[in-house]
Amino acid sequence: PPTQTPAAPAARRRRVLMFPLPFQGHLNPMLQLAGALRARGDLDVTVFHAAFDAPDPARRPPEYRFVAVGEGVPSADLLPSGSDADFAGAVLRINDRLREPFRQALAEEEGGGGARCLVVDSNLRGMQLVAEELGVPTLVLRTGAAACLVAYLAFPALSDKGLLPPPSHDESVLDMPLEELPPLRLRDMVFSATTSHANMARCLDDLVAGTRSSSGVIFNTFQDLEGPDLHKIAGAVGVPVYPIGPLHKISSTTGATETSSLLSQDRTCLEWLDRQEEASVLYVSFGSLVSIDEAELVETAWGLAGSQVPFLWVVRHNLVSRSSSSSSRHASLQLPDGFAEATEGRGMVVPWAPQHEVLGHRSVGGFWTHSGWNSTLESVCEGVPMICRPRFADQMINMRYVQEVWRVGFELEGGLERGKVEMAARKLMCGEEGREMRKRAMDLRDKADKCIKEEGSSKSAIEMLLKRIMSF
Ligand code: UDX
Repeated sequence: PPTQTPAAPAARRRRVLMFPLPFQGHLNPMLQLAGALRARGDLDVTVFHAAFDAPDPARRPPEYRFVAVGEGVPSADLLPSGSDADFAGAVLRINDRLREPFRQALAEEEGGGGARCLVVDSNLRGMQLVAEELGVPTLVLRTGAAACLVAYLAFPALSDKGLLPPPSHDESVLDMPLEELPPLRLRDMVFSATTSHANMARCLDDLVAGTRSSSGVIFNTFQDLEGPDLHKIAGAVGVPVYPIGPLHKISSTTGATETSSLLSQDRTCLEWLDRQEEASVLYVSFGSLVSIDEAELVETAWGLAGSQVPFLWVVRHNLVSRSSSSSSRHASLQLPDGFAEATEGRGMVVPWAPQHEVLGHRSVGGFWTHSGWNSTLESVCEGVPMICRPRFADQMINMRYVQEVWRVGFELEGGLERGKVEMAARKLMCGEEGREMRKRAMDLRDKADKCIKEEGSSKSAIEMLLKRIMSF
């Protein structure tokens, strides 16, 4: 049977159930949403989570009930890994393996009734179907950009046109602009080299079907950032759309990423940042899933060293794939000899950072990111321009919008070489173009600030969402 933390006090309160996809980039917004709902709606929260990737009990918000699902299901074949992670394959396997354990867990949780609804990650169609069968209404949380769902909605039409999978892998074909999805190019719709077209099509079919059959779709974005794409989605899915982001700003849980972080955050970097000059530091992090090979690590290291730009670099314990040192929990063991000496006083390397606080720190002036949606949104919300190096899933779409629509960053393309890293770092941190990007990023930050204030678009959307939840 599923293990669980002790039951809440007997008094019957309104309860919302949640089931995040078990990855950092999905767990964070779901728990931030939990914080926002609890703060405003007098609601209790039960978080179902995959047993293999559970939030650390020591860091879990104590006010929620956590229920582990799928105890004993081996994690190794469920998780995506590697530089071209097969995210779609992992999603299909998770749905397949956790569906029956979830049926049991939900039936037990719902034994006494009282749940208003299940808020489910949009990738967890299997869990949503279980809820539907048991008569529990569902809301879907999209943790990605609205732009990404617009692209996903176009996937079947692009397949019918013979564009997906791409008819050829020539650069000229992959670079083809998609007239129905400006500013995207065909290459932005190729989710990863290891994801089959069939798996991608199945995943997206499920995702769209789940969105359409839900009682509403919640987005971690805001109207002033993605108004046109949100409008398109509202027309296409036929259910209410709630753009309530940026969730990390709206969440009442202070230190929300700390509590939902699967890795322990090294906070000493904040003291180091305190000693740096304003807007001088390049923050470098590739999120929780992307990995690079040893040669790329070496080029990145020497590129940062050669740029002369101060940097804070997150080298996760599993950042380097297939490395003899990849099992090491000590980040610095993976770095080239002489690197620490060459960058002493100008650079800091940590295994995992308190990213919101880092991006909001006055010393941070740029972010080299893999363009995961949380990282992109967190950067935008602090007015920090970006160097983008997307690898898989929605990251290419996010990069394209950062570069072409919001113009707050640029892509670092092609093979990773130290000379290119140096130039990119200097362009963002010291050049005129970087300054212009920073100004535009500051404008977006102001808009993000406004949308969560009284009468702001996200604030109003939360009120609507709460009304919807109370109506169930
Ligand atoms: C993944 C995919 O990369 C992404 O494309 C998809 O949108 C969501 O799933 P992830 O790789 O983890 O997500 O990236 P991202 O969406 O940026 O989320 C990373 C989260 O980890 C952010 O909320 C960030 O604040 C946090 N983080 C990152 C830390 O707390 N510390 C760090 O050092 C790095």
